[in-house]
Amino acid sequence: MKKRYVQVGTGGRARFFYEAIATTYQETSEIVGFCDLSQTRMNYANTLLERHGQKKVPTYHYTEYDQMLDDLDPDYVIVTTVDRSHHDYIIRAMEKGYDVISEKPMTIDEGKAQAIIDAEKRTGKSLRVTFNYRYAPHNTKIRELIRDNVIGDVFSIHFEWLLNTEHGADYFRRWHRNKVNSGGLLVHKSTHHFDLVNFWINSYPKTVFAFGDLNFYGMKNAEKRGVKSFYYRSTGSEAAKNDPFAIDLNSNEELKELYLKAENDSGYIRDRSVFSDDISIEDTLGVTVKYDQGTILTYSLNAYMPWEGFNVSFNGSKGRIEMKVVEKSYINAGGDKENEGALEVKSIKVFPMFDEPYEVEIIEGEGGHGGGDPVMLNDLFGTPEPDPFNRAASHIDGAMSILTGVAANKSIASGMPIRVNDLINL
Ligand SMILES: NC(=O)c1ccc[n+]([C@@H]2O[C@H](COP(=O)([O-])OP(=O)(O)OC[C@H]3O[C@@H](n4cnc5c(N)ncnc54)[C@H](O)[C@@H]3O)[C@@H](O)[C@H]2O)c1
Repeated sequence: MKKRYVQVGTGGRARFFYEAIATTYQETSEIVGFCDLSQTRMNYANTLLERHGQKKVPTYHYTEYDQMLDDLDPDYVIVTTVDRSHHDYIIRAMEKGYDVISEKPMTIDEGKAQAIIDAEKRTGKSLRVTFNYRYAPHNTKIRELIRDNVIGDVFSIHFEWLLNTEHGADYFRRWHRNKVNSGGLLVHKSTHHFDLVNFWINSYPKTVFAFGDLNFYGMKNAEKRGVKSFYYRSTGSEAAKNDPFAIDLNSNEELKELYLKAENDSGYIRDRSVFSDDISIEDTLGVTVKYDQGTILTYSLNAYMPWEGFNVSFNGSKGRIEMKVVEKSYINAGGDKENEGALEVKSIKVFPMFDEPYEVEIIEGEGGHGGGDPVMLNDLFGTPEPDPFNRAASHIDGAMSILTGVAANKSIASGMPIRVNDLINL
């Protein structure tokens, strides 16, 4: 019998799941219904299903979510809506007796995380949070090296993440730019990074201190730099034509079908100027975390960098590991990706305390994130093999990965260190 899935939220990320089900996993899985507040986006998802030779599935307005569950009685609900609504759909599915797969972040604050944890206990249903970064071969390799005691006890970690002027800037055009929707980058984006740290060192955060500012995006900052003209949205705007931060929603099929054509039924404008005055998230962040078993993390995130990726080093009782990953290299001011891929780097080096340093081989597979995405999808929809790295993330992993960011947000607001145990009762 095929496993039957319904999906709530049919925007940009959704197709990663429903297309995998409709193609690679069509023997074991099927998508049976969509739910969203935009009929246009659901119709587009159905068009893509048809392109893959599948039948259209019934669509339900977001006000008919419970009705969809009653009508279709699926095996799983997949949640790919905006972050602020994840908890609502997760909890309502569990209450009705369904297991859930949710995109990250599991949710955006400690109250909603507690409600999910309580619902899981009350209903006995399961929640899986899809942390695809864990499956990228370089990230799994770090877990292996630390697990195998290659550098002994990990006393400290230095981790800097760079978001570039293309992908990084996009957070400041979309719903993510308001903290009420995304929890800010420390939750929305750093949930991946803090989950990686929890996974790598097999520990959870204890105390968090942070600073954060909006230094580059936003109107005030553009004014300070002497920007001469401003606009509300880029598509159709004269002023946007010379702005390297503008995107044109007519420039590709997905942007047009999912967002431009859906403006009437969703009210959502996806191409807002990154230099507008209602941005409530930070673009420059510094966080210090002490973990349960004693490790100290120093973390930074900057969202206006010339390249995208990360540097991370682990300092241990027997040596040091350094990893550098450049995911996207230089983009020129016209938005063209110069020499795309040419500067991309993935390297892991081990520096034993009293021995020669050496490079660690990273074996990649086909597909996104160095072959990690297909492994995760197989884990979800195929016939998974036992995983020696335990990469499948539970609701507890989902909660612990956001709590570093939630605590960091509180620390930025209060100027005080925050104890994670004071935020949640697991
Ligand atoms: N793991 C990853 O690498 C990755 C990458 C991208 C996005 N994501 C996650 O996927 C989720 C969706 O992001 P996206 O980029 O597709 O955003 P998006 O804006 O393209 O899509 C969000 C969808 O949610 C719908 N929606 C909004 N409010 C709703 C409500 N109350 N009820 C039902 N539907 C509602 C919107 O109409 C839209 O179709 C986010 O949680 C994001 O964090 C994860």
